[in-house]
Amino acid sequence: MALLTILGVGPGDPDLITVAGLKALRPARTVAYPVAQPGGEGMAARIAAPWLHPEQRRLPLHFPMTTAAEPCQQAWRCAARQLVQAVAERPPVVLLCEGDVSLYASASYVVLQLQRMAIPQLTLRLIPGVTAMAAAAAATHWPLALQTQQLLTAPAPEDPTALDALLATAEVLAFHKVGQRWPWLRDALEQRGLLHQALVAERVGWPDQRLVPAAELPPGACSYFSLVLVRQAWPSVLPWDPRGADTAV
Ligand SMILES: C[S@@+](CC[C@H](N)C(=O)[O-])C[C@H]1O[C@@H](n2cnc3c(N)ncnc32)[C@H](O)[C@@H]1O
Repeated sequence: MALLTILGVGPGDPDLITVAGLKALRPARTVAYPVAQPGGEGMAARIAAPWLHPEQRRLPLHFPMTTAAEPCQQAWRCAARQLVQAVAERPPVVLLCEGDVSLYASASYVVLQLQRMAIPQLTLRLIPGVTAMAAAAAATHWPLALQTQQLLTAPAPEDPTALDALLATAEVLAFHKVGQRWPWLRDALEQRGLLHQALVAERVGWPDQRLVPAAELPPGACSYFSLVLVRQAWPSVLPWDPRGADTAV
């Protein structure tokens, strides 16, 4: 069977790969993974490194760090073609994906491209992975959503107007792709009285991970691999105010 497995390897700690993921990875003869630059290493490949073996062929797939449509579409087509070729030449093939395969993942576009190409006999299997958001919540003992609370997952907004629109939609917000936006986002959260109800999780699961209350992170640079979690309210069913309690960060 011509099998291509898209595998979520989790956000950083290699031990967060699933049992299903390991079972798919061990027999793979080709291991593909995204790289931001030709010749680059790739986060997903680094995370899965302890589980790979030297006989496996490595297939880096270049996905440029841009939102421009044309180079993205070209990269997805090219990646899909390379994967189809690898499945024909050296199956089974696994495409590694940082975190989960369905959340802001280049792999999602490749899956859509492959579905569009409708290759006969090509079977796709997606194995979910631990999201950075889930790992950050666990590492900080910070429940993502309680009772009827709404949880909004979004890229960090571009400006205060966009922030206010997002704050109006959910009690709990998980801002991804923070990076350069941290200095103004920090100011804006402070102005809205939310800085002390937020935390920053940077490079969760990596040796240099940083988990800090947002108020303790100065307005300097923040890694692209950071999340800002904001809780606007706790459910009224709680008999105490958790903001006064000790937390893991
Ligand atoms: C392209 S998205 C990938 C998300 C990934 N597929 C997932 O399931 O978490 C990249 C964003 O996810 C977040 N992220 C990914 N890995 C992270 C980590 N180890 N620590 C903190 N945030 C991370 C950051 O917000 C980063 O900008």
